[in-house]
Amino acid sequence: MHPITAKIQLSPNVTRLDVEARRIAEIRQPGQFVIVRRGNGAERIPLTIADADPARGTITLVIQAVGKSTRELVALEPGEAILDISGPLGHPTEMIAAGRAVCVGGGVGTAVVHPIAQGLHQRGVEVISIIGGRSREWVIFEEELRRLGQVVVCTDDGSYGRPGFVTDATRDVLEAGGVDIVYAVGPVPMMRAVADLTRPYGVRTIVSLNPVMVDGTGMCGGCRVDIGGHTKFACVDGPEFDGHLVDFDLLAERLGTYREFEQQAKTACDAGSCRVGLVRPAPTPAPQP
Ligand code: NAD
Ligand code: FES
Repeated sequence: MHPITAKIQLSPNVTRLDVEARRIAEIRQPGQFVIVRRGNGAERIPLTIADADPARGTITLVIQAVGKSTRELVALEPGEAILDISGPLGHPTEMIAAGRAVCVGGGVGTAVVHPIAQGLHQRGVEVISIIGGRSREWVIFEEELRRLGQVVVCTDDGSYGRPGFVTDATRDVLEAGGVDIVYAVGPVPMMRAVADLTRPYGVRTIVSLNPVMVDGTGMCGGCRVDIGGHTKFACVDGPEFDGHLVDFDLLAERLGTYREFEQQAKTACDAGSCRVGLVRPAPTPAPQP
C-alpha cells in the first residue's frame, strides 16, 4: 500500500498527490512514469512522475480528473492509500549535456515537462520553459519551473502572461535562435503544432506520448504508436519520441477508441455506481488435504 502524504488542487481539474513509494523515489529518472491501481478492480492508470523526494520516500503524481478512474483517484485524501504502484517504467528522457533547451508544457502536460527541466538544469543546460493554460487558473508548475530558468506563461484568453497558445511564444524563441533542443508535452494538437514549428528550423524535438496503456510491459499492444513508419510501444520504447517522426493522426485516432465506454463509465459514476473497492479478486481455494 502507498499512503498519500499530501494533496493539492493545482487547477480546476488537476490534482497533485504526493505518495509514499520509497524505492521508486530513489531510482526514478526524468521522463519515467508509473502505473497506479487505486484498489482491487480499479483501472490501471499511467502517470508521469512529476517529482520525487528520495529523503522522504515520496513521488509526486499529477492527475487530470477527466474520467471515472481519475476522479476516483483524486478523491483519495492524505492518510488513505493507493493499492499498488508499478515503476519506474519507460525510458528516461534523452538529455543534452550543454546548451539551451526549450521546454513547452500545455496544460497538465506542464507537470510532465517539470522533471525534464529539472534534469536539464542539473546538467547545467539553460532551460527556457514555455507553459500555457486556458486561463490563469489552469496554469500549473510555474513556481517550480521558475527555480530552473526563464519561464514564459501563456493563456488562451490572455488573463495571465502572454495571450495565445504556447506555440506563439515558441515561434518567437526559435526565431531568436540558439535553441539546441525542444521538449513538448501536452494535448496531441499542441505537440503536433510544436513539431511542425521546429521542423523548418532543424531543431530536435522530443514529445511525450500518452496513448492508452494497459500492462505497461510491452505485451498487450495497447500503447502502439507509429514512429517514422515503425511500430513502437510507448510503454517500453518511449514514452518520449522524436516529434518529427510521430504519426499524430494515428495517435489521435487510437486515443478515441474507448471514448464511448469512458463516457458510459463516467455517467455511471455520476449516478453513483462506481465499483472501485467493491470488486474483489476470487478467493484462492484452500489447499486440499
Ligand atoms: P488544454 O486543452 O487546456 O491546452 C493546454 C495548452 O496547450 C493551451 O493553453 C495552449 O497553449 C496549448 N494548445 C492546446 N491546443 C493547441 C493547439 N491546437 N495548437 C497549439 N497549442 C495548443 O490542455 P489540458 O486540458 O490541460 O490537457 C489535456 C490533454 O493533454 C489531454 O488530451 C491529455 O491526454 C493530454 N496529456 C498529455 C500528456 C502527455 O504525456 N503527452 C500528459 C498529460 C496530458
Ligand atoms: Fe501494453 Fe504498452 S501498455 S504494450
